[in-house]
Amino acid sequence: MSSDRIRVLFVCLGNICRSPLAEGAFRMHVESHSLGHIIHVDSAGTSGYHVGEAPDERSRAVAAKHGVDISRQRARQFIKKDLLDFDFVIAMDESNLRNINHLNSSEHRAQTSLMLSELAEGTTDVPDPYYGGTDGFDLVWSMVERACATLLERIVKER
Ligand code: 4NP
Repeated sequence: MSSDRIRVLFVCLGNICRSPLAEGAFRMHVESHSLGHIIHVDSAGTSGYHVGEAPDERSRAVAAKHGVDISRQRARQFIKKDLLDFDFVIAMDESNLRNINHLNSSEHRAQTSLMLSELAEGTTDVPDPYYGGTDGFDLVWSMVERACATLLERIVKER
């Protein structure tokens, strides 16, 4: 894929709860720094369980509460080619990072990492909120929103 924009992909399991919030939060930070013409943002899931679906309504609600509309996102499955097409592939937890790295090889350009490694607070996984209540979605937003701010600073420094 030819693009001179820096390409950032957020990955969770279903692409309906955590990574859509990360995509929305990161885009919010990108736009507030007027970097939309430089940075492309997307998200995907390592599973195909929810392909084509809009984000979970609880994710849509927590994003809306923070002024971010994620309702037009649609779930898609992570594919090996994403490791060629994206510069940064950010996994929501260690299980997803393992699955991504399993597909990685030397010809790929993507730097893969964990979302919460940006915060260096000792927690590695953004907890999967799917089977819990709305509190879990508030927690996910607060984690990914802060981690996305740090990630953007890092990307701007590295590029
Ligand atoms: P996500 O959450 O990976 O943050 O999108 C999940 C969504 C769906 C399922 C699991 C986690 N599921 O088992 O269907």
